[in-house]
Amino acid sequence: MKIIAANFKMNGDREFIDNWFQNFNADTENLVIVGLPPIYLESSVQNFNKSNIKIAGQNVSKFNNPGAYTGQMSSAMLNDVGVEFCIVGHSEAREHLCEDNESVYEKYNCLKSFSITPIVCIGESLEVREANNHLHFISDQIEKFSTNEDKIIFAYEPIWAIGSGLVPTQEEIEEMSSHIKSYFSQQVTVLYGGSVNSKNSSEILNMNNIDGVLVGGASLNAEEFANIAQS
Ligand code: 13P
Repeated sequence: MKIIAANFKMNGDREFIDNWFQNFNADTENLVIVGLPPIYLESSVQNFNKSNIKIAGQNVSKFNNPGAYTGQMSSAMLNDVGVEFCIVGHSEAREHLCEDNESVYEKYNCLKSFSITPIVCIGESLEVREANNHLHFISDQIEKFSTNEDKIIFAYEPIWAIGSGLVPTQEEIEEMSSHIKSYFSQQVTVLYGGSVNSKNSSEILNMNNIDGVLVGGASLNAEEFANIAQS
């Protein structure tokens, strides 16, 4: 079983999401996780959560206790409405919301304390890759997790591959997933994300040490995403 995760980012509205789930053919043995904008989480959990389809948040507060954090949403709130997975550390949140490795780790711990499974996104820029610093850069991003005993889900999403149509070579993806896994004594799950579509998904899902995919743009089309989930 692989994990086939969608990240809608800030796309869609109520009607779009209803239509998407109506058109999505969930006939797959893989676990499908759909990351939705926060305002649609509760109704989507009620209407669309199934044993092999789970609704995910796209971000969460690093603060665990209720308090004066205007505009934020806590792990307790996600748990309250039945959300079982949540993306943290996406490069777009790192860039636009100034998140760093420390806050991503805090978010991870908040989610864990409410038994929500975090999907921790990591990935280097093109500049870092071209300077051949990518392994070192990723080590920095995962270092805080290394003493952790939990089973962790990482999504390796090179920033230069997100929304660009560029996909790293098989060797590059396998090198990175082995690098990530070698950091941990326990089993960790590594998804690949960045320009995944139904044409390249089987090749990626067949790679050594890749346990699934995290899909942005191509996930917005329910038929396309079903093809990925069934590949
Ligand atoms: P794309 O699939 O659009 O490249 O986005 C990947 C991503 O950022 C998923 O979180």
